[in-house]
Amino acid sequence: MNIPAAYIYMQHPITAETVTLGRLSGGRNGRGEFVYSPAYLAQNDWVPDPIRYPVGDQVFQVTTNNGIPGFIRDCMPDSWGEQLLKSLHGQAMSPVEMLIRSPNNDRIGNLMAGIARVPPPGVGGEQIPSLQGLSEFIDTADIIQSRQLIDPDRQKILLVRHRSSLGGARPKRTLRDGNTLVLAKARDRFDIVDIPAIEHACMTFATSKGIDTARTRLIADERSTLLVDRFDRVEIDGRMHRIPMLSALTLLDADWSSTDHSRWRYAGVADEMRRRGVPLKDLEQFYIQMCFHVLVGNDDAHAKNLAIIWRDGTWRLSPMYDVVPSPLESPATMAMALGKEGKRISRRNILSHHQHFGLDLLSAEALLDKVLGWESELREHYARHLTGEDHAAAVNAISSSRVI
Ligand SMILES: Nc1ncnc2c1ncn2[C@@H]1O[C@H](COP(=O)(O)OP(=O)(O)OP(=O)(O)O)[C@@H](O)[C@H]1O
Ligand SMILES: [Mg+2]
Repeated sequence: MNIPAAYIYMQHPITAETVTLGRLSGGRNGRGEFVYSPAYLAQNDWVPDPIRYPVGDQVFQVTTNNGIPGFIRDCMPDSWGEQLLKSLHGQAMSPVEMLIRSPNNDRIGNLMAGIARVPPPGVGGEQIPSLQGLSEFIDTADIIQSRQLIDPDRQKILLVRHRSSLGGARPKRTLRDGNTLVLAKARDRFDIVDIPAIEHACMTFATSKGIDTARTRLIADERSTLLVDRFDRVEIDGRMHRIPMLSALTLLDADWSSTDHSRWRYAGVADEMRRRGVPLKDLEQFYIQMCFHVLVGNDDAHAKNLAIIWRDGTWRLSPMYDVVPSPLESPATMAMALGKEGKRISRRNILSHHQHFGLDLLSAEALLDKVLGWESELREHYARHLTGEDHAAAVNAISSSRVI
């Protein structure tokens, strides 16, 4: 089959106009080609990733992430969204097809995609259901996960309605709550503990300690669901604006499909942030975030769960999101290397890369000790928000005792 090229559209962060940024072709055999639109470059110079994809007329040969440049891969679905698309289209898809077929309205950041050379009018503005659509989404997730057989026409309608371009493994859907877009993460039918409740408890504690964290609410109906305000959208004069966003995976030029995680280092992400002009005060916050993941035992803070966003003309550390204490035990290692000794949780390791965060050793120690000093308040917070096995799981995950 002849795979069409994908045109990459972008809501420009300065003019707010939707333009064609470039074209992506290939995508079979793990190779792709990306080229900027000459018309765009003639008038503009803002591009999402000027370090790996500098402005120019060259054809970029892409061999990582199955031929998709990282800054585009960031706005494509992972396992959950892929599963829905495959159920809908009933076939294996090349990454470029996946990009074309995934919806534009809920993609993270400011990119969209399509097969037309110029952005079709209204692209990305397709309606997003209100919170009232939540129970239908939960039903759909159940049907898909349990491989329940239902009327094919109804299945198709549900799949089309609840497709998502968002990353991550868990079922999720973007919904509209008044002027805000929220990410709905319902309790998974396979969860042994109430993950949305635990995530909510953890994120609200982070906010209470002054860490910039995505705002969450918990709907504790028959199926508990976490609603997370999307920080990559803002409504201005009645129109949704898309805020550019890049994952740490992209900053590290790492490959999501590879099992080689040697590039997954907090210090490496901090270096890349600095290279892109992220202010030093955000690097300090990034260090605090790293210490916080250790405190709560979130061993899933991987390279797609850390990001930067474009705010007021510069790249900034994004609010913290997807902070979930390990439901099994207090982890001994984290998803990304904390320091010179890799992923292992230890005081020496957490302090060892302090310079990459623009900190001297004494300041790094003070920040680490400040975060570890929150433990008793964290326990009180969990006691107020969680009960039974959920409470026990969150408390068991606390990993500060490993930092000796
Ligand atoms: N508040 C937010 N605003 C904008 N984008 C977000 C927000 N929260 C998450 N995202 C984006 O959506 C993706 C999926 O969300 P999230 O990480 O919470 O889901 P998950 O399924 O729990 O992920 P994982 O597979 O890492 O456990 C993130 O990787 C990020 O790109
Ligand atoms: Mg995630």
